[in-house]
Amino acid sequence: MQIRRSGVLRPNTTQLYRQRMGSESRFGTWASEIDFIPDPVAKQRALDEFATYLNPQKVRVMRAAGLDIIEAQRSGAWVWDLDGRRFLDCFTSAGSFNVGRRNPRVVAAAHAALDRLDHGNFLLCSEQKATLAARLAQITPGDLSCTMFGTGGGEANDFAIKLARGATRRAKIVSTINGYHGHTGFALSAAGRGAFRAPFEPLMPEFVQVPFGDTEAMRDAIDEHTAAVLLEPVQGEGGIVVAPPEYLADVRAACDRAGALLILDEIQSGLGRTGKWWASEHFGVVPDIMTIAKSLGGSVVPISATVFTEELREFMIPNPFIHLSTFGGSDLACAVALEVINVIEETGLVDHAAAMGRLLFDGLHSIARDHPDVIADVRGLGLMAGVEYVEDSLGPRMSYHLSQHGVLAIYSGNQPAVMRLMPSLVIEESEVDYLLHAMESALKDLKAGEGPSESSTRTRRRPVRPAPTAS
Ligand SMILES: Cc1ncc(COP(=O)(O)O)c(C=O)c1O
Repeated sequence: MQIRRSGVLRPNTTQLYRQRMGSESRFGTWASEIDFIPDPVAKQRALDEFATYLNPQKVRVMRAAGLDIIEAQRSGAWVWDLDGRRFLDCFTSAGSFNVGRRNPRVVAAAHAALDRLDHGNFLLCSEQKATLAARLAQITPGDLSCTMFGTGGGEANDFAIKLARGATRRAKIVSTINGYHGHTGFALSAAGRGAFRAPFEPLMPEFVQVPFGDTEAMRDAIDEHTAAVLLEPVQGEGGIVVAPPEYLADVRAACDRAGALLILDEIQSGLGRTGKWWASEHFGVVPDIMTIAKSLGGSVVPISATVFTEELREFMIPNPFIHLSTFGGSDLACAVALEVINVIEETGLVDHAAAMGRLLFDGLHSIARDHPDVIADVRGLGLMAGVEYVEDSLGPRMSYHLSQHGVLAIYSGNQPAVMRLMPSLVIEESEVDYLLHAMESALKDLKAGEGPSESSTRTRRRPVRPAPTAS
């Protein structure tokens, strides 16, 4: 394939101390060189302690995929391992670093907030919560205008489901197979992968799952008992599966007919990731409830938001304490999130993500054409890209090979054959170029038989899509 060659960012794993990159951009001034002393001994100690005090199997799995990285320096689209190696971060904690890692404006806002604030008293009204909620009402579509804050995505979805059940006085929640909504109570009950759910069954009653993208199955599942449908517009963990063109509109219509609510989980796909503020905009669909987390915290604080209509808020008017979270929407986190939104808006990051996404997809499609024996599909929106390999073990094996060429990329939790490429939205053209070159080099190494074998990285066989389940 022909990839534009910038000549600036050739991966070079031997020159650890002289790595340079364009450090100035309108998105920030990023660290251009390593600014710590690499310490492989400290790295090994951290891995050993992690294995002893957290989980040894996690260390083994990460090592097999070349991902036994201990993050040290973090800056913009890049991360440095404690041993000194630098990686273009294409995982970004599953899309949590849209404005770049330690974006200088966001870090400055965090410092300023720390000088003045703390978590705040969750029971009192708060200036920071009020300002951020007003800002969210501006940037979310349609008549979404009220917010409940939380600390993480699972909590945001839990509240979305509570609100749907409370407001409709119905119980049934329809979600999709291979969807991912977090590992908390209601969210896990709506998640679509058996392995995450099985040890905890029985989960919550009245949760039904249907295949993603199957309008008929969805229509059949939605009835007069349905409180809400919960969906990602683009399944992330499920392997970067974009909703078919008319799907969301059809689901919206089916919900309206049955008096059910539509909850869109934009936790991975929102805040500019897909080249629009919200992935649902690609489909012209406005939900009743939207959940936001991950990148809202600007890589430095935990925060999530469940945004909903004024009509739904009626349910909470008689009891404003119906859902409480001590740290949810802390004053510190709200101050930071406000700056995250300002950065996205003022730097034109959403349009930039769309432009970089076009370059990325051009390159990936070209590589896929050259390697049909390894790559089965390339899909996604904006900077939410999925590369599906022809079989599952290639996910971890390609993670390994990409890591050897300076790219941190991780396969999907629910679809190991699919590599997720979700770099920071501040990524520049030369860095897209770097990623595409690394991809080519990794494929070359894979075909030369280097790196881990198929059996050493096999996680499981390709999943057979289960029939719709109710639990
Ligand atoms: C689409 C989606 N929803 C919800 C979650 C859960 O978020 P958290 O891990 O913050 O609970 C995730 C996390 O990856 C996600 O990708």
